Amino acid sequence: MNEVKQKREDFINQYPPLNLLNKQDIGKIWAEEDFHLYVHIPYCIKKCDFCYYVSYENKNGQIPEEYLEALKKEIRLYGGMEQFKNRKVRSIYWGGGTPTLMSLSQIKDLLEVIWESFQIHEDVEFCCEVRPGPETTKEKIMLMKEYGLKRVSIGCQSLNDNVLKLNGRNHNSNTFYKTFNMVRECDVFSINVDLMSGLLGDTQETFLYSIDEMIKLRPENLTIYKLEVYLNNLLYKKTLGQEARFITDEEEAEHVEAAYNRLLENGYLLSDNYSFCSEDKYRQIHRYNTWEGEDMIGVGLSSHSCYGLTIYQNDNRMADYMEQLQNDKLPIRRAYEFSVYEDMVRMIIFGIKSVSYPLEKFSRKFGIGADVIFADKLSYLQKEGYIDIKDGILNTTLKGALYADDVVRIFYPDRYRDAVLAHKARG
Ligand SMILES: C[S@@+](CC[C@H](N)C(=O)[O-])C[C@H]1O[C@@H](n2cnc3c(N)ncnc32)[C@H](O)[C@@H]1O
Ligand code: SF4
Repeated sequence: MNEVKQKREDFINQYPPLNLLNKQDIGKIWAEEDFHLYVHIPYCIKKCDFCYYVSYENKNGQIPEEYLEALKKEIRLYGGMEQFKNRKVRSIYWGGGTPTLMSLSQIKDLLEVIWESFQIHEDVEFCCEVRPGPETTKEKIMLMKEYGLKRVSIGCQSLNDNVLKLNGRNHNSNTFYKTFNMVRECDVFSINVDLMSGLLGDTQETFLYSIDEMIKLRPENLTIYKLEVYLNNLLYKKTLGQEARFITDEEEAEHVEAAYNRLLENGYLLSDNYSFCSEDKYRQIHRYNTWEGEDMIGVGLSSHSCYGLTIYQNDNRMADYMEQLQNDKLPIRRAYEFSVYEDMVRMIIFGIKSVSYPLEKFSRKFGIGADVIFADKLSYLQKEGYIDIKDGILNTTLKGALYADDVVRIFYPDRYRDAVLAHKARG
């Protein structure tokens, strides 16, 4: 450590020292970071038994115009804010619910409002979630393509018809193939398919069958969600007193490990702890850039946002959401401002989840290395074979990826390390 020299040196009124000022950094003074937009459409023709998303069942298959009017107002309110004037939208994600339940003219209107309200990045990554079914039409995909649609994310869940039925899914494997082939014909940059592990009735054999079919179809992105069951979930209620049982966490892990190995053997790359891509260029900007801390504004009922060091969430009751917008207010229900230390924790968590993380990103952001801040924890994870640090890159091993959501919990500050959702049913 340097010693204090008692010399009564020059008065300090600036830090860092003025002799660090340079020409190159002038361009950085007004530089504005891109941001990301999530748009929530909370309606489905039928609510799936397992679904934990905020979405209403609307059997007539239409999206109420009042909701879309409120949503557009919310987008315009953000568009009018000084904070977004000089920044570009780098990615747009339409999720739900089922965004393709909107009619062609509703889709066009919503797109127009987004394009009028913000500056859109010339290479915007626009992704839309779709359900395999008649509402997902070629006309809708082609219309979104005119606005730069880059990825269509299809919820398949399983290719076993019994499993689909048992879990209250409103489509069968045939419908999935039809939708997949139709989207292929539209020639979008990438198709993502969602599968789920641990569904009721799924065995290793049926699960691996779905994986093998994906290997043949070769979507550019493949996401595997572990079924999460909540006590208020229809699926959970269905199993009470019935013969059907959920597989154990250990069985689910075996299924997923076998699936990961099969995908890797067949040329897929692990792009984060729960998804794969066929080539590196298909890694999802929306997910990774927001994981690296870029701002994300979520619009629509119950949407989550992160702006600077504050996370916040919109109203999740429709009446509250509509009322705030009728009064020209952003429909924000709750927020949490976090500390720089929590930001460091966030970066290391998502670094590990993204399976390959250049540690230089961490030190550039915080001016201190993750290996200094988290020395003990990182060396423990390395010793246990969850991660491997080489040439400044933190790589998550296959074992680390399979258990990433457990692994990263060791970085949680003590006061909320054990925070678990009390209404979770499976264990
Ligand atoms: C909003 S949905 C996808 C779009 C469309 N609504 C559909 O289902 O086809 C996003 C994905 O979340 C996953 N998901 C839904 N409920 C889940 C749960 N309880 N546990 C884990 N994943 C879930 C499903 O894989 C689903 O495809
Ligand atoms: S279609 Fe998608 S969003 Fe709708 S209930 Fe099913 S999983 Fe949830």
